[in-house]
Amino acid sequence: MKKLAIFASGTGSNARRIIEYFSGSGMVEVALVLSNKKDAGVLEIARSHGIPAMVFDRKMFYETGEVLDALRVHHIDFIVLAGFLWLAPPPLIAAFPQRMVNIHPALLPKYGGKGMYGMHVHEAVKAAGETETGITIHYVNEHYDKGDFVFQMRCAVLPEDTPADIARKVQQLEHQYFPEIIAKLVSENAA
Ligand code: GAR
Repeated sequence: MKKLAIFASGTGSNARRIIEYFSGSGMVEVALVLSNKKDAGVLEIARSHGIPAMVFDRKMFYETGEVLDALRVHHIDFIVLAGFLWLAPPPLIAAFPQRMVNIHPALLPKYGGKGMYGMHVHEAVKAAGETETGITIHYVNEHYDKGDFVFQMRCAVLPEDTPADIARKVQQLEHQYFPEIIAKLVSENAA
């Protein structure tokens, strides 16, 4: 059984999908949820599934080994960033080579980088008059949204779509594909 950790700071809808997808799977256990926000929706989701959770601040994340220690204590094999916006510190990247992925709500390399997250991405896609957008799942490295791509999926952007419409379409793709891509990667790459 491979052990997965999820880092999330938003509403946690992807984390919820991932937790539900693997619950009772016998293949992957979501063994730890981590957040830099003490009121993140994902913490309640973790609690309701009996999954241990950890909240950390910037100093803990960048200046101590506490997060890495927690990952070791829980024997984590693979890390998923699901709506987590801080750059991973080098020791974390080094400890999980090709074993940490992020999901981004656009077709990278377009609409990526610092500040490009959530609705900001969909507003930029709309403002540029794009006719398609989508999701990118990629390995995490020391730059925002720059690691090797693992998977992309597209959807159409219609002229009448608002940023909120685009967000809904993209979220549907995320919920549909993220858990199964994680399953594939974990079976191929986890330690
Ligand atoms: C997701 O759409 C994810 O792609 C995005 O945050 C959202 C989190 O939603 N991530 C980024 O923008 C990273 N740059 P959720 O909390 O409902 O899962």
